[in-house]
Amino acid sequence: MHYEVLTSNVAQVEADVLVVGFFAADAGKEKKKEALDGPVYTPSALEVESASSGALSRLIASGDITGKKGESVVLYALEGIKARRVLVLGLGEIGKFDAQAYVALHRKIAAKAGAQSIVLTSEEWTPEGRTYAWAARSAVRAILFGGAKIKGLKTKPVEEKPLKSVFWVTNDEQAQNEVALAVRQGAALAQAMIWGKQLADLPPNICTPSFVAEAAQALAEEINTEKGWKDKKEGKNRNKCVRCTVFDADELEKRGMQGILSVGQGSRQKPCLVELAYSGAAGEAPICIVGKGITFDAGGLNLKPGRSMPEMKYDMCGAAAALAVVKAAAELELPVNITALAPCAENLPSGKALKPADVITMANGMTVEVLNADAEGRLILADALSYADSLKPAACLDLATLTGACIVALGTDVTGLFTDDDALAQELLEAADAADDAAWRMPMGGRYRELLKSNCADIVNTGNQPHSGACTAATFLKEFAPHCPWAHLDIAGPANTSGADRQSTSRPMPLVFEWLLKRLEKASEKKDLGSQHEA
Ligand code: BES
Ligand code: MN
Ligand code: ZN
Repeated sequence: MHYEVLTSNVAQVEADVLVVGFFAADAGKEKKKEALDGPVYTPSALEVESASSGALSRLIASGDITGKKGESVVLYALEGIKARRVLVLGLGEIGKFDAQAYVALHRKIAAKAGAQSIVLTSEEWTPEGRTYAWAARSAVRAILFGGAKIKGLKTKPVEEKPLKSVFWVTNDEQAQNEVALAVRQGAALAQAMIWGKQLADLPPNICTPSFVAEAAQALAEEINTEKGWKDKKEGKNRNKCVRCTVFDADELEKRGMQGILSVGQGSRQKPCLVELAYSGAAGEAPICIVGKGITFDAGGLNLKPGRSMPEMKYDMCGAAAALAVVKAAAELELPVNITALAPCAENLPSGKALKPADVITMANGMTVEVLNADAEGRLILADALSYADSLKPAACLDLATLTGACIVALGTDVTGLFTDDDALAQELLEAADAADDAAWRMPMGGRYRELLKSNCADIVNTGNQPHSGACTAATFLKEFAPHCPWAHLDIAGPANTSGADRQSTSRPMPLVFEWLLKRLEKASEKKDLGSQHEA
């Protein structure tokens, strides 16, 4: 992948496609004066207009571009323009072009452009309240991931023409370095999202717990090789590296991780716990990201109805996202330690399967009465969370396609955010907003804990009544991460699309990544202040 930040002359850039936009005349305040004046030229549109001796004004005269949202016209081989095509987009009214519209449009540009090299002038469309760096990061992420297709296993695979070069046009020479970094961040995130998506889209006969473990190991190997981190003693980056450890069934047994083991015991596929750790800040407490890795959830002995089963290959999307966050962080060599933990198992019915009413002892010593074998996610997460908690992390997030109840509450597009830590909630909600990766805070603890009482064990794995399933699940999880700042993201809805064209979305990676970057930004500001005080 090739990225370049340009400050001049869009007409002269050689590429497959150059994208320019028009806003619609604002129907707001200045209605009377300007409403009839036609679409509003962005600076690049003006440049194209003059370099091409009026191609855009002729286009507008034809009536095909008025600036309305959704309009798009492709112009070929314009004189005076080096790009082979110019994609002209209507952006709608400037006042309505918010962050959500900005990201949504970029998701579509990949498909519309169908190009291998692209010149983007979308900095000129930066929504109010956002920085140019945000605009660059979001646009590049959305375009690169928006172009990712399901890979599939068709005997005649669809031919792919992936984007190879991105030229980002900036009008702010001062901010050039910042914008260039943002472009890299967007690309690293998108590439990690694609890695996670490809893993999650695989069928469950291929993507088994051991397959996930091998994928994580291969990823660590690849990053260490590429970055020259293999021999940690050499080079200036000797403190940085990615390390993958797989706890196999024997190791889980030794550690008393009966939550993971008992969920996996009905399957021929052995469960495991994958730990993928990136160290980029020697000596600092890690951030733990725990991801649910049920590679297929048949519901165990509480068998699911057939029609809702195929989607349960996506029950490992949390694991894929957690591992992929490490890839993005390592790619950018962020000054942070991140430990991804992916407990992996297959939840199947069999003569050896976990039975409703079994009582198991978890890694932290707590006993759980398993009332429903289909509430398996919290059992595997519990052991992983206990382990995470023991690492004394600065913060711990878990990502899990945990409950159908969360979809009932919030729909398929919004992630359920559960935490008892108000500051962390605030950070995550801000990141959700910045990344256009919607999340909504939900209640937990307190009264919901009452619903998890057992008469024979410390806790039950499902409430004794059918309501508030997402909230009781979160409340259950917190029992296993008692000491660290923790938040749970229920991504049962957003992790994948449904129906015939079901696919992984790699959500909530944008949210988590944005949160990480913001945290690092704040930490470095604090450091700067500290050194000023010392001086
Ligand atoms: N993986 C499912 C949750 C799920 C449901 C994800 C639909 C995506 C779409 C989870 O393991 C599960 O089965 N949860 C149960 C919990 C119940 C038994 C308390 C559920 O939501 O029905
Ligand atoms: Mn289940
Ligand atoms: Zn599940």
